Amino acid sequence: MSPPSPQRFLTGITTTGTPHLGNFVGSIRPSVAASRLPGVQSFYFLADYHALIKCDDAARIQRSTLEIAASWLAAGLDPERVMFYRQSDIPEIPELTWLLTCVTGKGQLNRAHAYKAAVDKNETAGHDPDADVSAGLFMYPVLMGADILMFKAHKVPVGRDQIQHIEMARDMAQRFNHLYGDHFVLPEAAIEESVALLPGLDGRKMSKSYDNTIPLFTPPDQLRKLIAGIVTDSRAPGEAKEVEGSALFQIYQAFADAPETAALRQAYADGIAWGDAKQRLFERIDQEVAPMRERYHALISDPGEIESLLQAGAEKARAVATPFLRELRQAVGLRSLSTLPAVAQKSKSSKSTAPSFKQYRENDGKFYFKLLDADARLLLQSHGFDSPREAALTVSMLQKEGAAALAGLQDKLVAAPDRLAVELALQFFSSMKT
Ligand code: TRP
Repeated sequence: MSPPSPQRFLTGITTTGTPHLGNFVGSIRPSVAASRLPGVQSFYFLADYHALIKCDDAARIQRSTLEIAASWLAAGLDPERVMFYRQSDIPEIPELTWLLTCVTGKGQLNRAHAYKAAVDKNETAGHDPDADVSAGLFMYPVLMGADILMFKAHKVPVGRDQIQHIEMARDMAQRFNHLYGDHFVLPEAAIEESVALLPGLDGRKMSKSYDNTIPLFTPPDQLRKLIAGIVTDSRAPGEAKEVEGSALFQIYQAFADAPETAALRQAYADGIAWGDAKQRLFERIDQEVAPMRERYHALISDPGEIESLLQAGAEKARAVATPFLRELRQAVGLRSLSTLPAVAQKSKSSKSTAPSFKQYRENDGKFYFKLLDADARLLLQSHGFDSPREAALTVSMLQKEGAAALAGLQDKLVAAPDRLAVELALQFFSSMKT
């Protein structure tokens, strides 16, 4: 028995900003952990084509690509063990995006959350529904589908806000497979239940767009300052405090183990001062981040080294993507013409170089035709016609309409045993006309 094939995990991070604690807890840390599981093959990439959808600051995209790559590596990603690459180094991805675009309903894209939110916002403001909406935003889910389907990922670790995108990728895969045969694996979202969305400084989800983030590798004194700014209530030292709804507690929980979390819960009940709770949070985060911070700065200071890692990663990824795309192109009909009438090539050695119709009269006085391939092999044989004109009309119909005409001519033809050869020969005639 062959060993079970590995589960493939794949995820990307959009390169528009500096990684923050929310990215670390929600994406970087779990992806590094998954990459170390036995029987798992991981594909992690920098989604810089996606970055173009939200960001037109070229320098920022470049800088963010470096920072996110360095963060992943500093967090322990082993590029020997995983496929680690930059999306835009894989030209097969935009090419696959087009193939998927053609099997994706426009109506389905109309219903994608991010696009719909933009439209709703415009409508509420009394603007044109598509005001300031780029076609890139509209196509976002298809590009993401290409990322995922290209590498036949089984599991895609993402935040809840991305579940719809994974479902859309599944739909694209299903539709394509239905039309062209079984090429794609149907992916599933892998939602880490234990990783709640990390709150930011103001208690809302930590996110660049709310400007409430704590950068992952900010220097320690800056980290301390930012933590001091996390919203709390006004309870005085000695007063019992609520863990429910406490951003500080939730962030602590994302870094601490169960006994540490229990200890802080108890300290809340015992009335710990907010200042002391913040000091504990600072120490706990710094304990985990400090060793990575050092590696991060070493990595960042050598962009050329990261560039060559990414180049090596792209080479590995393309070793998968290139042949797969070749298969997909073949499946949809983007094919080399030299594979077409194989007969026409083979026949270099024989007399004729193409299939041909022969018309003739038999001793029974009737008019016949036959279709021969380039090697003079009989492909089709007609019954007898009363006039040469009838036979000629039938031949020209076959030449013009190709295999489509066969069905209507059944009673005029002797059954063709090699249907494919007949179709190829007929295709030859219609191609001569264009
Ligand atoms: N859309 C994802 C995000 O904003 C990033 C992303 C791009 C991605 N392509 C992907 C995630 C493929 C998982 C799989 O977070």
